Amino acid sequence: MRTVHSLKELRTILRGYRQQGKTIGLVPTMGNLHEGHISLVRKAAEMADVVVTSIFVNPMQFGAGEDLETYPRTLTEDQDKLASAGNTLVFAPSAEEIYPEGLASQTQVVVPDVSDGHCGASRPGHFEGVATVVTMLFNMVQPDFAVFGEKDFQQLAVIRKMVRDLMIPVDVVGGPTVREDDGLAKSSRNGYLTPEERQIAPAVYQTLQATAAKITDGRTDFQALESEAEQSLGDAGLRPDYFNIVNSQTLKPATAEDREITILTAAFLGTTRLIDNLSLTR
Ligand code: PAF
Repeated sequence: MRTVHSLKELRTILRGYRQQGKTIGLVPTMGNLHEGHISLVRKAAEMADVVVTSIFVNPMQFGAGEDLETYPRTLTEDQDKLASAGNTLVFAPSAEEIYPEGLASQTQVVVPDVSDGHCGASRPGHFEGVATVVTMLFNMVQPDFAVFGEKDFQQLAVIRKMVRDLMIPVDVVGGPTVREDDGLAKSSRNGYLTPEERQIAPAVYQTLQATAAKITDGRTDFQALESEAEQSLGDAGLRPDYFNIVNSQTLKPATAEDREITILTAAFLGTTRLIDNLSLTR
């Protein structure tokens, strides 16, 4: 498995693969890889001849006061994990390689509607940063398909709409959330949790499951369910950012007529912000 840092090297290698008629799958990441990422790489390896994993902590998607500086950079460990998961090529560019003229004058991609609300409301500019870098990665790698984790449900919806609206010739594939034994969704940010916070963290998924059970039992008073869930998160020691029951396609508040429902949540434990979601069919 090779690692390249420059776009020039990346393009030279990928040209060779394309000339041999090989299919290419892309797994965009910010590194600090865990089993969730590795499951996406394995999925890509089952579908393509060549798997490119990008590792880039994208400054454009971090807001002021967020964890851009402290976000874990673990390239050597990541390379070891990728090699044993069937990855072909690691693309680990610097910020200068991706944004040579700096962020201030960078052209941006804005994806309306699905970027609004939820994480989009709590993290202004976040999805513009994601959509912009993902478009650039698609243009740099020109993959046949790209795999993204379903844990970032709104991000996946943003990318699917972007690809549709801009007619980008890349298939977007979702990979299921990988969880710890106690239900906590695997995330690079779990490493920030203190041992005490780690004990509390499974309450996020437990609250999603409890709410899903109430909906399956027939409740459609979604606003009341959201308030009950926020109360439970608070009682467990979390500080809810949002807990929203939405239509799975539009990500707008669910109505009693909706069949496909997704529950989206983000909550703070100390300074760590955890996100998770659960989809169900009524
Ligand atoms: O999900 C992530 O890790 C990032 O948002 C992504 C898709 C790699 C873009 O920087």
